Amino acid sequence: MKKILVTGGCGYIGAHTIVDLIENGFDVVSADNNSRSNDGILAGVEKITGKAIKNYKVDLCIYDDTYAIFQENPDINGIIHFAAYKSVGESVEKPLLYFENNLNSLINILKCADEFNIAHFVFSSSCTVYGNPDEIPVTEETPQKPAVSPYGVTKQMGEQIVVEAVKCSDMQAILLRYFNPVGAHPSAHIGELPVGKPGNLVPAITQTAIGKLPMMQVMGADYPTKDGSCIRDYIHVCDIAHAHTLALNYLLAQKQKTNCDIFNLGTSTGYSVLEVIKEFERTSGVKLKYRIGPRRPGDVTAIFANNDKAKASLGWIPQFSLTDMLVTAWKWELQLKADDNLFTNQNADLN
Ligand code: WQD
Repeated sequence: MKKILVTGGCGYIGAHTIVDLIENGFDVVSADNNSRSNDGILAGVEKITGKAIKNYKVDLCIYDDTYAIFQENPDINGIIHFAAYKSVGESVEKPLLYFENNLNSLINILKCADEFNIAHFVFSSSCTVYGNPDEIPVTEETPQKPAVSPYGVTKQMGEQIVVEAVKCSDMQAILLRYFNPVGAHPSAHIGELPVGKPGNLVPAITQTAIGKLPMMQVMGADYPTKDGSCIRDYIHVCDIAHAHTLALNYLLAQKQKTNCDIFNLGTSTGYSVLEVIKEFERTSGVKLKYRIGPRRPGDVTAIFANNDKAKASLGWIPQFSLTDMLVTAWKWELQLKADDNLFTNQNADLN
């Protein structure tokens, strides 16, 4: 059984990916210092899979502590590196925190991967590397524009660091560019756990609908789009998770022709903010309290993926519709309330 180290394994996408890896025969260990996550989510992973996951509560910016994980697990075959800060807004306020955390942790992981001859590496990247694209949908070859936030810059730089690192090693890497991950595992045992007030659209919708937030804002309705609100490519987190399993299998089967390949993970369909709100109201039966507010600095007008490459090479076909995404997100929010917010993260509000 191949053992995979999942960094950021207590995070939203990390936990969903661990479920998919286990269901596809992998053995998994997690490394997550829980600075922005809650290891209680691994109890949810165990409810779904029956497997208890070991989490190393380690700051990956500390090389010796990171190295110790590999010493204790010499049978690690591959790494999926999620661990990073990811709040666009916070990165604008604290750019150096983002460069220090996101890049130092990546460099330490890559140094250990080299020391321990790890052959396979999957890097969690983001559509934010495209900046404000001139044309959509974007393919993996679409030229990158300047990122719109320091968070996006850390993803652009992170990709370049991986590309250069694998050039002088025997490791093979895949960069996965997520569009907008949303929704929750259908069991409602795991889901998104925003720290503080949610910055992302779907948790803002569900927290407003359940009454955690009194009102939400549509951040701009004067964009040059069909209804004036921004367009994004929302993709179910379980589809994103399965893409990681397929990427690892692709590497393990040595199907990759180059030492570093890139794949867009989106549905290739764009929805506006107002369309998402309308679909949520339709599926949940809840009338959402929102108002039209000013544009949010750093938002791109519209972006969605051309996902042909992931379909052709990885055999990846998104299974979940926008309705499924919103139904599972709402089911998770209702479960959190029923569990009296069991997992609510006690971290300071990151507003
Ligand atoms: C989507 C749209 C907002 C909240 C970011 C990162 C990306 C990925 C996902 C990590 C925008 C609007 C939002 C609200 C709103 N992160 N919105 N009211 O900014 O597209 O992507 O998160 O992997 O890398 O860049 O996602 O959900 O924040 O915003 O109107 O309360 O919803 O203005 O148009 P975004 P988002």
